[in-house]
Amino acid sequence: MTTLAPLGSGSDPDSFLRLGIPSKGRLSELATGLLNQAGLSFRRQNRGLFARVSGLPIDLIFLRTDDIPTLCAEGAIDMGITGSDLVEEAGANVEQRMAFGVGRCRLAFCVPDDEDYTDAAQLDGKRIATSFPHVTEQYLATKNAKAHLVSLSGSVEAMIRLGVADAIVDLVETGSTLAANRLRILEEIGHYETMLIQNGTHRRKEVADRLVSRLEGVVLARDYSLVEYNIPRSQLAEAEKITPGFNSPTINSLEDKDWCAIQVMVRRGEVVEVMERLKEIGASGIFEMTINNCRL
Ligand code: PRP
Repeated sequence: MTTLAPLGSGSDPDSFLRLGIPSKGRLSELATGLLNQAGLSFRRQNRGLFARVSGLPIDLIFLRTDDIPTLCAEGAIDMGITGSDLVEEAGANVEQRMAFGVGRCRLAFCVPDDEDYTDAAQLDGKRIATSFPHVTEQYLATKNAKAHLVSLSGSVEAMIRLGVADAIVDLVETGSTLAANRLRILEEIGHYETMLIQNGTHRRKEVADRLVSRLEGVVLARDYSLVEYNIPRSQLAEAEKITPGFNSPTINSLEDKDWCAIQVMVRRGEVVEVMERLKEIGASGIFEMTINNCRL
């Protein structure tokens, strides 16, 4: 087994799990927020590269988001938080351990609004600007097409107007960047999101599993609210159809034997509609409550 060099201070550095997280940008804030909510407390001093988590055998390594897949595949870090788009572009041999349900986006071939391309195969021999040259090349190869790839690290959507490309392959989230640049999606390559990745050797497995369990609790809590309401027992079956719960709802008796109280997890985006439907079938005292953390 490779001997790992000590990180930070403390004893037995070999027993520490190394978790790579983005050093700056939106993903850095998201990762830091998730880890803090999961009870991992640490202090990054003077934009340093390392931070030790207090009370848990975990060292955080602050890295460029696009280097995290490769460094995880090479074993420099045991786990990392990054985008699945970057894992695919790096061709990194890592396990995608859990999805955070955020940072969802599509990678797509995009062309000017007023050009009548109908298939990415028509880009054979054309110039394509992208930050994803490998994924683009592989996708075009499945269509027996090959393009001249202009490989860039950002601002790709400006490249057609600058005259260096006929089309682009870029990430699309809301589509507003495309609209602002009078571009449209020609064809989607894939869907991606923010992930926790893991090296296949599973070093420090117990610590890794504990970290995953903590993060799962936080991710679930962010996705769901707890809804409480009272319902006549005669309407219980209808109510369970509207709120089946994550596993099943909790049903408690009330003093009035004809009524019961329900506690159930509901996806946040669906809560308002669910409350309206519950009211329609005779529910009362309907409350939505925030879940800070959970284990199911
Ligand atoms: C990404 C992507 C697009 C934009 C898409 O850029 O490259 O430019 O977001 O989002 P939208 O569909 O919601 O408009 P990012 O902000 O990460 O910066 P970049 O241009 O430097 O890649």
